[in-house]
Amino acid sequence: MVTVVICVGSSCYVRGSDQVAATFENLIDQEGLADQVELMGAFCMEECSMGVAVRVEDKVYRGVHPEDAEAFFRDEILSVVKKDVA
Ligand code: FES
Repeated sequence: MVTVVICVGSSCYVRGSDQVAATFENLIDQEGLADQVELMGAFCMEECSMGVAVRVEDKVYRGVHPEDAEAFFRDEILSVVKKDVA
């Protein structure tokens, strides 16, 4: 199981964390990954400056934008899921 945490603190919320979460949820459904990816919310991760903060396992990414959420999911989350399965 890969844990993905999306910041829902006020700064990230204003930058579209709810849209990022919705995109991730849709992709998890589409790809049939509900039992491989756990999506969670968290309050401020002290990484507010550039966009939505997302943590994938132990790695924190800053500056995820709603319009890039699908590409981020495919590049950064799916690769970890594949390693987790392997
Ligand atoms: S509000 Fe998201 S990192 Fe601070």
